[in-house]
Amino acid sequence: MKKIIINIRELLQVRKTAIDKVTGTEMAVLPKIDQAYLIIENNIISDYGSMENCPDTSTFEVIDATGQVVLPTWCDSHTHLVYAGHRIQEFVDRINGLSYEEIANRGGGILNSAKRLNETPEEQIYEESKVRLEEVMKQGTGAIEIKSGYGLTVEGELKMLRVIKKLAENYPIAIKSTFLGAHAFPLEYKENHKGYIDLIINEMLPKIAEENLADYIDAFLETGYFSVEETERIMAAGKQYGLAAKIHVNQFTAINGIQACVKHNAVSVDHLEIVTDEDIAILKDSHTMPVALPSCSYFISIPYTPARKMLEAGLPLALATDFNPGTTPSGNMNFVVATACIKMKMTPEEAINAATINGAYAMGISDTHGSITRGKKANLIITKPIPTYYQLPYAFGSDLIDKVLIEGEIV
Ligand code: NIG
Ligand code: FE
Repeated sequence: MKKIIINIRELLQVRKTAIDKVTGTEMAVLPKIDQAYLIIENNIISDYGSMENCPDTSTFEVIDATGQVVLPTWCDSHTHLVYAGHRIQEFVDRINGLSYEEIANRGGGILNSAKRLNETPEEQIYEESKVRLEEVMKQGTGAIEIKSGYGLTVEGELKMLRVIKKLAENYPIAIKSTFLGAHAFPLEYKENHKGYIDLIINEMLPKIAEENLADYIDAFLETGYFSVEETERIMAAGKQYGLAAKIHVNQFTAINGIQACVKHNAVSVDHLEIVTDEDIAILKDSHTMPVALPSCSYFISIPYTPARKMLEAGLPLALATDFNPGTTPSGNMNFVVATACIKMKMTPEEAINAATINGAYAMGISDTHGSITRGKKANLIITKPIPTYYQLPYAFGSDLIDKVLIEGEIV
């Protein structure tokens, strides 16, 4: 049955003409209709408008949203939601004074998660991961990217990607899958980087392509992890299999990685806690979406991405969670949006644009997700009654979501 949402206090992110992203000063504008209705037909947004022009509702299933705000679901373009176990001890170690780097050097960090993942059966990883997926859907996420990268062995990486595939098959949410074999060097390859990269390129990638397990390729381009040259080899190899790049870069150091990513036409560059003027200039002439992950900055106490500087230079910006057991054990996009406003001084309009249409761009799905546009998926957040959408980042600790619809169905 067709559905109609009526009496919507504010219908946000209304884009009559489809756009793929918003950039620079455009990000300050969040088009909306006050006192609106919206019609859902066959899981798609078929129409919307002002209540003054609302059609006869007698043939519809009616959702009355008096006092409530409606916006597109969040597009979370960067997560590691599939993992085994947890890293609670590292959290406590950090409270007691150790840094992320010191913990990693002691065998903690990514290698800790990789050990656990390789010991855990696929079925159990699926069970643990689906709980997290269901949680973030209820928190308003309607499209999500999920990475591998805690396997670091042929079998481990395939296992993770198969779990992601199974989640995509069993849940209505759009899921993009990213192969992150180049997340860290396993101990046995510590002194043999070429050997591990050969394994990624010659063993992992062909199998992943054969089973059609990934949409994108990623690497942790960082001092002490993958160098610029090593990451370039990985991006080039991914391209051979049709996998565009989304790269972890500039989290701790700026080593001209962004330049290499742009050269390889990366879809996105993610983290960017440390950004130089040269990095900004290079991104400015590109199609690559910068992605900030403020919950990671919050959780491990590192700088926030300099959003103001980037937007004022005319760049676009997307926001994502980075949901993972080490640096961000939260997939809550509402917290990300609030933290971007509070700590990165993004306006609510900029943050909502970054978490919807620009997140969709960073997953290559702007044509179907990220805005209220006729013909797009009916993926909607209906808030509880609130005075204005500013309440979302303002009341940062409150659960303000009443309903989430994914492809027109209530989650
Ligand atoms: O995005 N920086 C690299 N990767 C993850 C964290 C990995 C981990 O600690 O498990 C991130 O923060
Ligand atoms: Fe990450």
